[in-house]
Amino acid sequence: MVIKKKDATPPTIIVIFGVTGDLSRRKLIPALFDLEAAGMLPAKLRIIGFSRRTWSKAEFYAYIREVLSGRNHGREASFVEKFVKKFEYCQAFFDEAQAYRRLGELVVRIEKSTFKQCANKLYYLAVPPHFYEGIFRELALSGLTIPCGGNEGWARILVEKPFGNDVRTAKKLDLLLGMLFKEEQIFRIDHYLAKEALQNLLAFRFSNALFEPVWNHEHIDSIAITLAETDTVGTRGAFYDGIGALKDVGQNHLLQMLSLIAMEPPKDARADSIRRERARVLRVLHGGGSPLSQYALRGQYEGYQEEKGIAAGSTTETFFSLKVFVRNKRFRGVPFVLSSGKGLSEARTDIVISFKPPHHCPCRAKQVKCTHENRLSFRIQPNEGIELRFWIKKPGFSNELEEKHLSFSYAASVQAVRLPDAYERLLADALAGDQTLFTSTEEVQAAWRFIMPILAAWQQSPLVVYKKGTQGPASL
Ligand code: BG6
Repeated sequence: MVIKKKDATPPTIIVIFGVTGDLSRRKLIPALFDLEAAGMLPAKLRIIGFSRRTWSKAEFYAYIREVLSGRNHGREASFVEKFVKKFEYCQAFFDEAQAYRRLGELVVRIEKSTFKQCANKLYYLAVPPHFYEGIFRELALSGLTIPCGGNEGWARILVEKPFGNDVRTAKKLDLLLGMLFKEEQIFRIDHYLAKEALQNLLAFRFSNALFEPVWNHEHIDSIAITLAETDTVGTRGAFYDGIGALKDVGQNHLLQMLSLIAMEPPKDARADSIRRERARVLRVLHGGGSPLSQYALRGQYEGYQEEKGIAAGSTTETFFSLKVFVRNKRFRGVPFVLSSGKGLSEARTDIVISFKPPHHCPCRAKQVKCTHENRLSFRIQPNEGIELRFWIKKPGFSNELEEKHLSFSYAASVQAVRLPDAYERLLADALAGDQTLFTSTEEVQAAWRFIMPILAAWQQSPLVVYKKGTQGPASL
């Protein structure tokens, strides 16, 4: 097919594999709509939903309308309707070779009749990981991943986590992907990297000269990174039971938060430079030489085994706590305690940096104990913000010290600015070709390399059962 270049802004086709799944419903379709409302999607756009359900186009449109109900950004109903009409539906099984021929025909029809121009193509794999290989293979055979030619009409792929199941499977996926795409076309998702409050971490670290001199083992005592959830596994039991908390959020979200805290300043702001520094940290993680029981703890909430989709007698962890060290000059000897669990008493993600107490206490020894320390907390969610704990002399005749806080809250300070959801940011960046907030193959492999021995050793160690609605087993 020869399609002439006509317009300077190339049209774009987004293909969502698994468009009727939970991720698409909760995150992707709303994020695309929010981007459209913000004027951040290409004017010439079609979104092809690929799913197994035998739906007519009318039924598919009813589904999109339902997903978007109550979400209009103050726009007319016609704005929503215009957006709904940008969707096309491709009913198919993920491993059905014929389906990719039909997808190809649909893509060509859109390019020829609607755009009259070759389009950029973004493929989003919002499907369980066991479908990845089949989809990659069929996409390869279909020729759908071949860019239009020249600098026009790129093809990119967005792959959800978990990327592989261990080092070997991650490498295998990379090998398959490598046959289809170059590294700069592959966008491996860790949606935590795209959370606004986490993106701010590097900006905060590297634009405040005040903190750089104390951002090291001489001044930092310990760092706690917590991702606590009140939700239980819910409807995701069958998927979750096969992976557990450490693979679900540890291998990715928590280790990424750690790498942002521990990485060295990148030599420039390019995606490659930033990803290289993150990977460097992940490669030098270790357990401090202690026996596993002293640096890695796992738990399961009571009642987990009765949840839908969970295997009888399952020993899958729903909670973990790791005491991790980074073998680099800056952080040697500083413990990073990473904890995460489901079914806990509160939902919060934060990073708390505890500084060592001062060497010399200016207070009268008899009157106060000099154990006061500064603490810098990054609240990733909810109530996104930053808080610095410091000490003052209690006003008045007393010589006691009193704890005070300097704080920044997104809600209070940036009311006029809507904080984009992580998925909006990821989609916008993938469309723009910016890989900064996506994980590189080096990062993914280093993270698997670190957690796999822990998982293997856990097979022989006890699983602590904790009650739902509590703080889980005591962290390390
Ligand atoms: C996902 C995990 O990657 O992250 C889920 O698969 C977890 O189990 C979720 O609940 C947490 O993300 P967020 O953005 O809700 O904090």
